[in-house]
Amino acid sequence: MSRSLATTTTVQGNRPSRCLLPAGLDPARLPAHVAVIMDGNGRWANQRKLPRVMGHREGVEALKRTLQLCSDWGIGALTAYAFSTENWSRPGEEVSFLMALFERVLARELQALEQEQVRIRFLGDLEQLPEGLQQLIADATARTAANTGIHFNVCTNYGGRRELVRAAQLLAQQVARGELDPADIDEAAFAANLHTSGECDPDLLIRTSGEQRISNFLLWQLAYAELHITDVLWPDFDEVALTAALLDYQNRQRRFGGVESGLT
Ligand code: FPP
Repeated sequence: MSRSLATTTTVQGNRPSRCLLPAGLDPARLPAHVAVIMDGNGRWANQRKLPRVMGHREGVEALKRTLQLCSDWGIGALTAYAFSTENWSRPGEEVSFLMALFERVLARELQALEQEQVRIRFLGDLEQLPEGLQQLIADATARTAANTGIHFNVCTNYGGRRELVRAAQLLAQQVARGELDPADIDEAAFAANLHTSGECDPDLLIRTSGEQRISNFLLWQLAYAELHITDVLWPDFDEVALTAALLDYQNRQRRFGGVESGLT
C-alpha cells in the first residue's frame, strides 16, 4: 500500500473505523471477512490491446485499493485468490511474470504493510513457489505476525480440493501417531487443519468479470458466504464497486439453513 492509512479515527456503531463509510452502508453490519476472486485481468488488457500481463500489473493496484478500503472501513479480513494450483497451466511467460510480480510487490510494500498494522499470510502449497519468493513470504509473515490490523490472506498456489485432502492427511497422521481419536474429528478439528486455521469464514465472496463459478476457492470456508458477482473487470475494481458489493451483502437475509427471523 503506497498510500498511508488515514489518521483520523471515528467511531461508527460499535466498530472503530478510520474513515467514513460511503452513505447507505451500515457500519454495524459489515462483513467481518471478505474474499475476492480477482478475475478479468487478461480481458482488461485485451480491451486495451496490451499484453495480458499488464492486466495483472494493474490488478495489483486494484488489490491495494481494496485492502486499503477494507482496512479503512474496519473489515477484519481480506482473502484474495492470487494464484491457483491450476494456474501453472498458463503460458510459462505469464507464470514467470506473476511470480516475479509477487516478489516485486511484496518487497516493495512490506514496510507499508508493517507500518499500517496489516497481518499478511500466504495460504497454499508454498514449497512449490520459487525459492526467493518463499523467503520473502516467510519474512513478511514473521514481520507482520503480531500486527493488530486487518488480516490479509493471499492464496498462492492454492486449491480448495488440495487443501481438503491435505487436512485429511494431517488428521490421519495425528490418528496414526495416537494423538487423535477418530471419534473426535469434528468440523472444528477439520477446520483447524486448513490453511485458514484461526480465521473466521468469509461472509462475502466477490467475483469480478461476471463469471459465475467458485473455481476451487475456499470450498469449505465459503459454505455460508453470500456471493456477489460483478461484471467489473478486476483492474477496474474500485471504491464504487466495493461499496456496491457491500450494499448487496447488507440487503441479504442470512439464514444459515434456518428460517427468516420473525417467521414461524
Ligand atoms: C485472473 O485474471 C487473475 C490472476 C490469475 C492473477 C491475479 C493476481 C494479481 C491481481 C496480482 C496479485 C499480486 C499480489 C502481490 C498478491 P485472468 O488472467 O484469468 O483474466 P481473464 O479471465 O480476463 O483472462
